[in-house]
Amino acid sequence: MKDIKYTGVNDHQVDLFEGQFEVPLGMAYNSYVIVDEKICVMDTVDQHFGEEWLKNLKGVIGERAVDFLVVQHMEPDHSANIANFAKAYPGAKIVSSLAAFAMMKNYFGTDFADRRVVIKEGDTLELGAHKLAFVAAPMVHWPEVMVTYDTTEKVLFSADGFGKFGANDVEDPEGWDCEARRYYFGIVGKFGAQVQALLKKAAALDIQTICPLHGPILDTPDKIQHVIKQYLTWSSYGVESEGVCLAYTSVYGHTEAVAEKMSEILKSKGCPKVAIADLARDDMYETVEDAFRYGKLVLATTTYNMGVFPKMEEFLMHLKRRTYRNRKVGLIENGTWAPMAAKGMKEHLAALQGMEICPTVVTVKGSMTAETIVSMEKLAEEILNS
Ligand code: FEO
Repeated sequence: MKDIKYTGVNDHQVDLFEGQFEVPLGMAYNSYVIVDEKICVMDTVDQHFGEEWLKNLKGVIGERAVDFLVVQHMEPDHSANIANFAKAYPGAKIVSSLAAFAMMKNYFGTDFADRRVVIKEGDTLELGAHKLAFVAAPMVHWPEVMVTYDTTEKVLFSADGFGKFGANDVEDPEGWDCEARRYYFGIVGKFGAQVQALLKKAAALDIQTICPLHGPILDTPDKIQHVIKQYLTWSSYGVESEGVCLAYTSVYGHTEAVAEKMSEILKSKGCPKVAIADLARDDMYETVEDAFRYGKLVLATTTYNMGVFPKMEEFLMHLKRRTYRNRKVGLIENGTWAPMAAKGMKEHLAALQGMEICPTVVTVKGSMTAETIVSMEKLAEEILNS
C-alpha cells in the first residue's frame, strides 16, 4: 500500500476480549490513515489506547489536520476514541452510517450533528487520488457496519470481517486460521447469511489488500484467496476438515475415561482427527470452533439433576445461539441410577437444523465396562460411516 498507513495498537493487558474470549496472544485494534490531498482516518481503537493511537497518527501525518474519520463499526473496541479524536481534530468530519450516529449519541451524548457525513451503501468519498466506496455489511457483526473499498489502491477495509484474535507484534505459531476461526465462530458465527451476502458483494471487487480491524493485513493473492475460501465454508456452515469433535464433561473421571476410549476407537477405525475437549477445563470457544470445523460431533456427559450436566448444557446453548446445523452426532451418557443426559441432549439438538443423531446411544452406569466398549464400537461405526 502506498498512501495507506497502519496506526493501530496491540493490547497485551486485556484479560478477556469482549468480556469473554481468552486471548493468550493479546489483541490488535487496527486503525489506518489514508494520506492524500485530504487525510482520512479509518476507525479508532479501544479506550485504553487513545493516547498511543493519536501518537501513531501524528507519527504518520505530523502536524497536518485530518479531514475525515470513517467509523465503520460502533463496537467500543473500535469506536471508544471518537470523542477524543473529535477534540484533537476539531476540523475533521465524522463519516458513518445513520445507525452508527444514533449509537454515537448513546455512547458520547452527541451525534456530532454539525460535523457529520451520513453515508450509505453505494456512496463514495473523494480524497484526491483516492476514492472510497462504502458497502453495507449489516450484522457483520453489528447492524450499523459499513465496509469500505478504496478504489484507487484496491484495498478492502473489512471491519471485523477477516479479523482474528492475537496482537500483531507476536507471531501466531498456528498461522492465521486457528485464531481467525475461533474469532469467527465465537463472534460472527450466528450471522452466516449476512457474511455470505457480504462475500457476494466482495466478489464483485478487485481486492489486492484486506485491512481488517483485528489481526494482520492480508496483502497477497494467496492469503486473500485462502481467507475468502475459509469464510465461504464457515459462513455456509460447511465441513472444513474431516474428523470428529468429541466434547465431554466428567465429574469423577469416569466419563473422561469413556471419552478417551471413544477417541481411541474412532482413530483405530480410521478417523483422521479426533479433537477431544473437557468442556469444564478447556476453553469452550476452542470446542465451539471445532464443532463447526468438523462434520461429526460426539457428546459425552453426566446426568445431573435429572438432566444434562451444566457445562454440556452451556456448550449446547453456544451451538444453538450460533445456529449450528447439518452435522452427525453421537451421544454418550453417564448416570449411576437413572441416566437422563441423552434424552436432555436430544431435546437441545432437536432445535437445530439438519442434525442426524446416531441410533446407538452409549449408556454408562458409573464406570466403563466391556459392554460399554461394545456399544462405543457400534456408535463409532455409525458416526464414521455416512
Ligand atoms: Fe471488533 Fe465487533 O468489534
